[in-house]
Amino acid sequence: MTASKDSGRPKYVKGSRKASSTKTEEACSSALSSLEGKGAEEQVEELKQIQTDLNKREVQLIEREIKALRLQEELDRLRPLSGLYRVVKAMATERRLDSLLDVITRETQMMLKCDRCSVFVLEATKQELWTQVAQGLIGHRMIRIPLQGTSIVSECARTAQVINIPDAYADGRFDPEVDKSTGYHTQSVLCVPMLNRSGEVIGVFQVLNKVGGPFTNEDEDWLQGLTAVAAGLIEQAQAYQEIERFVDKTLETLAQTIDRRDPLTAGHSMRVTNYSLLVGQGMSIPDDDIDVLRYSAMMHDYGKIGVPEAVLWKNGRLTPEEYALVQQHANITYELLSNLPFTRRLASVPFVASCHHEKVDGSGYYRGLKGDDIPFLSRIIAVADVFDALTSVRHYRNRMPIDKVSEIMMSGKDNHFEGSCVDAFYQIPAHRVIKVMESERGTKEERPDIDMFKNTSWNRLVELLCGSQPKKGEDNLKDSFEKMYNAGLPADYQSLD
Ligand SMILES: [Fe+2]
Repeated sequence: MTASKDSGRPKYVKGSRKASSTKTEEACSSALSSLEGKGAEEQVEELKQIQTDLNKREVQLIEREIKALRLQEELDRLRPLSGLYRVVKAMATERRLDSLLDVITRETQMMLKCDRCSVFVLEATKQELWTQVAQGLIGHRMIRIPLQGTSIVSECARTAQVINIPDAYADGRFDPEVDKSTGYHTQSVLCVPMLNRSGEVIGVFQVLNKVGGPFTNEDEDWLQGLTAVAAGLIEQAQAYQEIERFVDKTLETLAQTIDRRDPLTAGHSMRVTNYSLLVGQGMSIPDDDIDVLRYSAMMHDYGKIGVPEAVLWKNGRLTPEEYALVQQHANITYELLSNLPFTRRLASVPFVASCHHEKVDGSGYYRGLKGDDIPFLSRIIAVADVFDALTSVRHYRNRMPIDKVSEIMMSGKDNHFEGSCVDAFYQIPAHRVIKVMESERGTKEERPDIDMFKNTSWNRLVELLCGSQPKKGEDNLKDSFEKMYNAGLPADYQSLD
């Protein structure tokens, strides 16, 4: 076979040629061995046949290689399509803007075979473009650039034109200072504006350093297709985020209106919320449940709006009649929250919130539910609620010493509380518990740096407070905590416990 015939063949396709060559060699050696002992004429005929067979095999081999090459080309052609499909699919699963941007940038990078992808979102009120995901820039998750700046991204947003630069350093629009500050080396750049349905620019897709050469016209087409899909998703996620922020702040404000009726309960709802979230995260509760937990904990005592202040603020122990009035708040919480049009995802908030005084042995109120009939999230809130009540000053008693608090929490396991929730609470790092515990107390005293409790679990700190011998590095923990815990306690409150 001549060199000129070889040069017209398709390129080598991994695996196929080697296997086929071996088979051809085997066929040759078996055909040649069949010539042994035959006459000259017979051998010539035999050799002609062998040549014909070899040619046929060679043709088959070339056909197979062409087919494999075409398949590979087809796969390469379809790769962007599968990337588009994955982004569209993400619409159904990613509501949150940050996760959506993560998916989009990851898929774009694969789709266009490039080294880096950033989605810049235009914040019109600030005249800035920000990107939440700049891959490879660890610790620089948010980059902001002015819309009127000289960067390629800014120009793309202002002009709403695609910018395709094959060699960044040979193009006057590229600012090498960006590379200097990040340590990255930009080669090729493709920027595509992201437009909303009204044709207004809402952001820019920037992809950098195409593998194997500059970005092609086909890349531009694919990226424009992707930005068209992404624009709708991003607008939707932004709207969702705004609604979520509004709901969050509204519920927080509603909860504060109850807490702030009395200076002694100020911050109670938010502290219970934050303790609950720490327990929930420690128990790996799924994201959707974490949201239900947050809103339920925030609103758990909202029903107190229906309890007379004279009873809520009474100095001293309550009469049975007064206690019955206070108990009503769980029922009122349910009734009031049931009037709010929670989304389907948050539909269980009224029920979860109203079950925070249920006890796993069935002796709680107001439904008297038992064990697994009490929503798990309510069992978390119950732990957080009692812990905050005991570690706060009340009208009828002072802040309770931690050894006593712990005695109540531990003795409540599996009768009042779900045992695993108490255990999860005790596993929280102590500095996190303290940060919540000391928030919104209104005391002005100097507090120690709570980072000193960083390597200690709440469980270990309780052990130290209960007299356990301090190990290396634990010497000051007990004294520092007690100084902080007892600081600013009103001297005129008498403990009735
Ligand atoms: Fe309550």
